[in-house]
Amino acid sequence: MSQLTNQIAVVTGAGRGIGRAIALKFAAEGADVVCVSRTQENSDKVAAEIRALGRKAWAQAVDVADANAVNAAAEKILAGCGRVDILVNNAGVTRDNLLMRMSEAEWDAVLDTNLKGAFLFTKAFSRALIKQRAGRIINVASVIGLIGNAGQSNYAASKAGLIGFTKSVARELASRGITANVLAPGFIETDMTAGLKEELRAEILGQIPLGSFGQPDDIAGAAVFLASPAARYITGQVLAVDGGMVM
Ligand SMILES: NC(=O)c1ccc[n+]([C@@H]2O[C@H](COP(=O)([O-])OP(=O)(O)OC[C@H]3O[C@@H](n4cnc5c(N)ncnc54)[C@H](O)[C@@H]3O)[C@@H](O)[C@H]2O)c1
Repeated sequence: MSQLTNQIAVVTGAGRGIGRAIALKFAAEGADVVCVSRTQENSDKVAAEIRALGRKAWAQAVDVADANAVNAAAEKILAGCGRVDILVNNAGVTRDNLLMRMSEAEWDAVLDTNLKGAFLFTKAFSRALIKQRAGRIINVASVIGLIGNAGQSNYAASKAGLIGFTKSVARELASRGITANVLAPGFIETDMTAGLKEELRAEILGQIPLGSFGQPDDIAGAAVFLASPAARYITGQVLAVDGGMVM
């Protein structure tokens, strides 16, 4: 039995990596999916993959940090789909630098996409979710938001902020039957981590009890769980999917 039959999901950053894996796994579980990405080409590609699975898909190119663009997209999505059952705020970027060298632009770029983007999208859909008296919000943070990381003060701040944001939203919307939870991936093999030097990869691997890097599908499986009926009584939680890196 599919776990998300006829649910409508919006996934940001769905053009590749973890967001793409979540979008495809949701579709495999019976959901129709709105694929939001920065570039139309990537969201179109993933939407086509979803249609090949026999589900409906829509592609939207949106910069999640742009309030006007997000509000216009949300309006269009709600008009086109009628409702939204699951929102996954997954779009994220890194601009790593040591604090002493970090520019204001590097700080702003990361906070704007990772934290403000989730705020804008969640707010844009909140009225519809409240009216439905049902909904699942899943925010993709990172274990770095829990433990920090040298060279990633902007990224860690954005992800720790996302955790606090999610817990507040969970409290605000619980009485309307809406849950909000965080997925905190560890080291997952995507474009975001592809550029890391071999030495650093080996060091990180040494900190993972399960002994391997994660795959986008590992995060997608946890996202399906949080969106599924099995998770109906779970809200305001942070689920680390990290091979045991942080425990
Ligand atoms: N890969 C990892 O090890 C890892 C670990 C922890 C958390 N995460 C988080 O998981 C999420 C997905 O990461 P990934 O590894 O798949 O990265 P990725 O770089 O492969 O994909 C990120 C996606 O987000 C989109 N995006 C970025 N900025 C955007 C914006 N302003 N508007 C719209 N879309 C935007 C990109 O276009 C892309 O589709 C991110 O939030 C990231 O911080 C990743």
